[in-house]
Amino acid sequence: MKLVKLLANLGYGSRSEVSRHLRKGHVTDVNGRVLGEKDFLPHAEIRFQGEPLDPEGPLTLMLHKPEGYTCSSDDPGNIIYDLLPNRYDLRNPMLSPVGRLDKDTTGLLLMTDDGQLLHRLISPKHHVPKTYRVTLDRVLEGHEQGLFASGELVLRGEDKPLLPAKMEAISEKEAFITLEEGRYHQVRRMFAAAGNHVVALKRISIGELLLPDDLDEGEWKILSPEEIALAKGK
Ligand code: URA
Repeated sequence: MKLVKLLANLGYGSRSEVSRHLRKGHVTDVNGRVLGEKDFLPHAEIRFQGEPLDPEGPLTLMLHKPEGYTCSSDDPGNIIYDLLPNRYDLRNPMLSPVGRLDKDTTGLLLMTDDGQLLHRLISPKHHVPKTYRVTLDRVLEGHEQGLFASGELVLRGEDKPLLPAKMEAISEKEAFITLEEGRYHQVRRMFAAAGNHVVALKRISIGELLLPDDLDEGEWKILSPEEIALAKGK
């Protein structure tokens, strides 16, 4: 791939902006030799303003989503892309969230430019479990676990019952809930159907991939192939 296209696809600017960077000598090899449009080097040997290039696709990262951020690229408020380097929302192919978390939901959010992986992780056909920690307004009554596991619960405004979901109480007002699908506001609507109200919701795992304790809210990291396999539940 031509240098200008490679850098533009990685989000370093439009093609004309990248050409300008090249003319200004911002793109070099590892020894600082200035590269021109016609030069070709392996990705790992190219430097942009002295720094190694961002990884090429396919790229998958995990973000610890804080409250108040929307999983969208064009919302006027805070958006998840604000938490990544500017270049990351200009990449081509673009990074998309793997399923959405509500603005007020926190926790594990994957973002990828790999369409097949995205489909694999969100399609209910593949049964990839997602676990949430839920904090409730009112005490659990004891009927919730059976209701959610029944495979018969139909949410308001829908006609297809939910797939069975597992719930495990942690305390009177807290529970883990594991779903294999991701309908709109699903956890909040499930507890509403059970006569309760969710006051805090955090996703803690996808497949066998856990949100690590040392990834603070707002922080992100690129996933290794092993971590991607865990997310698929393998
Ligand atoms: N269920 C919800 O209600 N909200 C989320 O963000 C995720 C699952």
